[in-house]
Amino acid sequence: MKFMKAVQVSTPGGEFELVQREIPEPAKGQVRIKVSACGVCHGDDVVKSGGHYPGIEYPRIPGHEIIGVIEKIGAGVEGYEIGQRVGVGWPAGITYDGGFAEYMITSAQELVQIPEDLNSIEAAPLLCAGVTTFDALKNSGAKPGDIVAIQGVGGLGHLAIQYAKKMGLKTVAISRGTDKRELAEKLGAQVYIDTESTDVAKELQKLGGAKVILATAPNNKAISVLVDGLGFDGKLVIVAGIEGPIQVYGNQLLMGRRSIQGWIPTGHNQSKEDTLKFSLLANVRPLIETFPLEQAALAYEKMMTAKIRFRAVLTI
Ligand SMILES: NC(=O)c1ccc[n+]([C@@H]2O[C@H](COP(=O)([O-])OP(=O)(O)OC[C@H]3O[C@@H](n4cnc5c(N)ncnc54)[C@H](OP(=O)(O)O)[C@@H]3O)[C@@H](O)[C@H]2O)c1
Ligand SMILES: [Zn+2]
Repeated sequence: MKFMKAVQVSTPGGEFELVQREIPEPAKGQVRIKVSACGVCHGDDVVKSGGHYPGIEYPRIPGHEIIGVIEKIGAGVEGYEIGQRVGVGWPAGITYDGGFAEYMITSAQELVQIPEDLNSIEAAPLLCAGVTTFDALKNSGAKPGDIVAIQGVGGLGHLAIQYAKKMGLKTVAISRGTDKRELAEKLGAQVYIDTESTDVAKELQKLGGAKVILATAPNNKAISVLVDGLGFDGKLVIVAGIEGPIQVYGNQLLMGRRSIQGWIPTGHNQSKEDTLKFSLLANVRPLIETFPLEQAALAYEKMMTAKIRFRAVLTI
């Protein structure tokens, strides 16, 4: 029997544990991947904390921004070969074991083709942070020249700023404090709003009101105060996972014909592959801090306290 290193969570709210696990065998229709890079996403919190998400069984190996190479192919899988580089995204690491490990198993249907010109460490975060924000912006109704604000400059937010800029949108970054100002501007933000020293809604209204605000910060109060920053027909698109209620009065929506929408990408491989292609075309790349697998807990902790610039990736 052969073993691999993995990082797992044994109970909701439990710690990340570095363990030896049996290397899993691919069943019919599955492949085994030797993982080379896996991003650490705030979405891993549903496993770590045990959020309201169906289908999580423990112990669970998190990680859903995975790049690796096919190492073993199960019966009935066609069109793939040993040594081929592939990607896997959500719901790996949630409903089945994911990429915080040396090896993982997935259905061949989940595999994403990775363009040759993208390196593995930079491609990994595009499989969740990238596709989520690219897909949300692409479908938001914003047109070139429209004011689009990105709230939260973290893993998702820093990619969203780049996509918005490259889509020809007037791009506003919303963050707490001034620490991230310079980097946000380098990534393409034309306006930077510090929510600690200014009233974010008033600042957006000074610009004319946002057509779209993409909310990536997982905090219900920080999101509620954005509504008044929307212009006429403006839309608040929420990609952040938030547990608490958003406070909004009916007239805040009615008078400006505003709306609020949640967004998840379709889950189809096509949307992930479209994201990779656009990222190559428009030269959008994540800014990354790498960590060895053994330091998954540290990477997660730094992410949860918004200290990563801007995506942690485990290199395995
Ligand atoms: N819809 C989907 O399909 C989807 C996919 C992936 C992730 N998500 C969710 O999207 C959210 C963001 O994920 P991520 O990986 O980008 O997380 P992240 O890297 O931790 O970034 C979140 C950012 O939000 C801001 N923030 C954090 N806590 C805050 C608070 N208490 N008040 C105000 N702002 C706060 C911080 O930005 P500043 O320091 O700039 O303020 C932080 O960098 C998470 O809720 C995640 O679960 C959803
Ligand atoms: Zn994610």
